[in-house]
Formats: sequence, structure tokens, C-alpha cells
Amino acid sequence: MSVKSYFLGIDVSTTAVKALLMDDTGRVIATAASEYGYETLHPLWCEQDPALWWNGTVAAVHQVMRPTDLGKSVVLPESVVGIGLTGQMHGLVLLDAAGEVLRPAILWNDQRTAEQCDEMCARLGRENLIRITGNDALTGFTAPKILWVQQNEPQIWERTRHILLPKDTIRYRLTGEYAMDVADGSGTILFDLRRRSWSGEMLAALDIPAAYLPPLFEGPCTTGALTEDAARTLGLIAGTPVVAGGGDQEAGAVGCGAVEEGILSLSLGTSGVVFASLDRPVIEPHGRLHAFCHAVPGKWHLMGVMLSAACSLRWLRDTFAPDKSYDDLTAPAAEVPPGSDGLLFLPYLTGERTPHADPLARGAFTGLSIRHGMAHLTRAVLEGVAFGLRDGFELMKAAGLPTVNQVRVTGGGARSALWQQILADVLDCELVSVNTTEGAAYGAALLAAVGAGVWPDVPSACRAVVQMTGSVTPDAERVSVYKGLYTRYGELYPALKPFFKEN
Ligand code: XUL
Repeated sequence: MSVKSYFLGIDVSTTAVKALLMDDTGRVIATAASEYGYETLHPLWCEQDPALWWNGTVAAVHQVMRPTDLGKSVVLPESVVGIGLTGQMHGLVLLDAAGEVLRPAILWNDQRTAEQCDEMCARLGRENLIRITGNDALTGFTAPKILWVQQNEPQIWERTRHILLPKDTIRYRLTGEYAMDVADGSGTILFDLRRRSWSGEMLAALDIPAAYLPPLFEGPCTTGALTEDAARTLGLIAGTPVVAGGGDQEAGAVGCGAVEEGILSLSLGTSGVVFASLDRPVIEPHGRLHAFCHAVPGKWHLMGVMLSAACSLRWLRDTFAPDKSYDDLTAPAAEVPPGSDGLLFLPYLTGERTPHADPLARGAFTGLSIRHGMAHLTRAVLEGVAFGLRDGFELMKAAGLPTVNQVRVTGGGARSALWQQILADVLDCELVSVNTTEGAAYGAALLAAVGAGVWPDVPSACRAVVQMTGSVTPDAERVSVYKGLYTRYGELYPALKPFFKEN
């Protein structure tokens, strides 16, 4: 009997480190999460101590490696032959010459850099910046955070010698190597998107020495090996290869098989993401979509990110029906007609990125009348989020997205059959669910397995492990109702924008 090999996926997320152990057929053996918080010292700020990520990694890896019964065998450290990394994107970590962290990480959801975004556009020219990086300067991205530190904490910038992203800080602890994958790298917007490498023009315009940035690797490539020290701490074997991996969005796309043109993924997590894999870089001319490198070598992707998707439903439940389960909350909403009897919801509870890059955008219910009850509010939230995701989809089509053959729906919100049906009707396309539901950590483990040669490439790995488990088709009558409502929804943001103030 051949000896099985195993792969670890490690996801350094905003709220926890998640570890996942997978065998060489793609079967998930165990998962574990070690949670932590973040600091919001000032309005618009969001920071996290990188030490939390390392402690979380140690705890989650120990937990996932606890003797697991597999028939008569257990997973021994020496049978873990590859590690893949993924994590929250865009976060800024600054290290000194000795590799010590200089200040708390400034996270992807930190919104302090509006001025620096304007300054980047002024220095580079907005069109030029979009042409080079594929993206507009947005407060979430890494580059404006660097400018903020230069301008507000010059004493930190003076000591800075290395710039990393969250998961690459863990890579440094694991392997002693400074390295980054091209997918997460492109999310810094210091990238030449077409060349899949750092842009000399961007670095020069922002006074960032190229030597501060790490070497770049494609997703399944090995970036280093576990050091003796890290191996001892984690209970693994020194020399185990660590592959580049990808940002959580790219690794999540690998996890559900959105790695080929024509397959779109729709994720209904805290945020809502429309993700399309591409064989060439496609840029939305006004930078309203994110255009990054994929974790699949030689591929790119387009992405629309709405900040409050499932989080809108959680807000509704926690605020108005804290004792109800999501099923109890959504069941009565299925009895409400499409359009919620005139009630519309604008889902910008935490500002927005796609289609309106506006940290100050806010949510709203419009058309509220005495006839509306909890079931209407619930349905309106599900519909508003679906309209928001359609915005991303429409921008992609207009930017030249090749024909979509299949839309895969993932994330916690996708557990609601009603929400899936509303999405199918709003987007007017069939939605498919798949068997692989573990998200980014699973994608990272698959990238490690491809790196080890279990499958020849990422698409082959995905074809081997991802299977369709169900589908929802649109209903012509509801599609036509939602078509009209989508136009009205589109009028809400411009009409309400004057009321959105900094609060
Ligand atoms: C993607 C993004 C988030 C973070 C946090 O652009 O900002 O998905 O990666 O998970």
C-alpha cells in the first residue's frame, strides 16, 4: 500500500488563523481555527498585531495535527509534505533590517488613506496609475498605507527595510525567507499588472526602494522550507516546502475551481465577491473593478468586492431578531413577493468598494411603509445584496469579460436556498453549488499539492476535486420584475450620496 502524503493550508484571515489538513486526493482530514481581534484606535482605522498571526498559526497547526483517526493510521508530521499560505489581502507590515515588526499591521479594511489616494493619483496621473496597476488608488490597498506611514510616522519609515503582507509575515517566520506570491503582490497596487512584477514607475513615484520588496513567485512555486526552529514550534519536519499561495480571494477561487475562463465565482461571505478568472489582464477603464494576478500561473482575474454582503443579513438579525436562527429569519421572507412590496435596501453598511469606491457610503431602506414587517425587511436585504453583486457582474461584462459558462456560489450566505434563488433571478443566470466549501485554506492546500506534483497544474487539481452538488435556475417572471427594480436600485446611491457624511 502506498504511503499517503498530506498538505497543510494556512489562512491568516482578519479574525483567525485557519489551518486545514488535506490528503493527496483532495479529501479534507481536519480543520482548526484560532481566533483573535483587531484594534480600531481612531475612526476609520483598523490595525492588528502580527504576533497574533504567529500565535494563531502555532495553535491552529497543533490542533489540526492532533492524532486523527484515519482507519488505523494517524497523520504523522513526516507525511505532511507541503504547506500553502493564504490570508487577508492588502495589509501593510513593516520590518526593520533584523526582520523585527516595526508597528501594528494596517489592515485591508482600514480607511484612513483617502488623502494619500488622491496624492497617488496626482503624482502618477489617475489614468496612468490604472493603466500600470489595473486598479484605482483605493483606501483598502497597500500602496497608500505606505505613503501614510512615510508622511505620518517618518521615524518608522526611516527604520523600514522590508515590506510584507500578512501571510508573508508568517512565511518569514516559517522559512526565514522574504517572499510573496504575485496574486497578493498585485493587490498592493505597486505592480505592473501585465508583467506580473513590481512596477519601477510606481516605486519611484512613491519613493519606495525596490530592495524593500520581496522576490515574487507564482502560486504553486516553493518559496522556502520550514526552518528547524519553526518545525520544532509547530511539531512539523524541518525542510518541508512552503509554496507561495495567494491572497484569500485567489486561494478561495482555487478552492471552488474558479481557475478557468468561463467559470465565475460569487461569494456570499461577510463581504460579497464576484470573481472571474482570465487568460489575459482585463482592466475596467475607470478602475471600478479590481484587476489582479491569479494564484494560477499565467492567469489574471477581475473582482468586484462589496463590503457588506452576508454581514448585512447578520446586522439585520442581530439588531432586530437576535434570538432567531437565519432559517427562521429567512423562511417568512420567501412568502413576500419579489420587490418586497416596494421596499429597497442599499447595502453600504460599511462603506463600499464596487461599484462606488466610497468609504463614506451608507446603507438605507427606501419606500418603507406601515405595511412592511420583518419578512419584508429581510427580503429587501437579500435583494439589495443581490443587486450589489449584479453591479460587479455588469461592470465585468462591460469591461469585456469572456462568455460565462458557469457561476459557482460559495460562502456562508449560500446556505440559504432563498438567497440563491434571488441571486439567480437578479443575475438572470443559473447558479451552481460545489462540494468544496472550505474556502481559501483549502485552495492554499491545493496549491501546495500542485507544487509537490500531485497534479500537473491548478486547473487539473480543481477538475479532480471540485464537483457540482446542486443548481438553481432563474424564473422568467421574477427575472423581469427584478430587471425593473435593478434600475431603481441604481438610482439610489447618486440620490442619497449628499446625505452620506463622515460617521
Ligand atoms: C480583497 C479584500 C478582502 C481581504 C480580507 O480585495 O480586501 O477579501 O482580503 O479578507
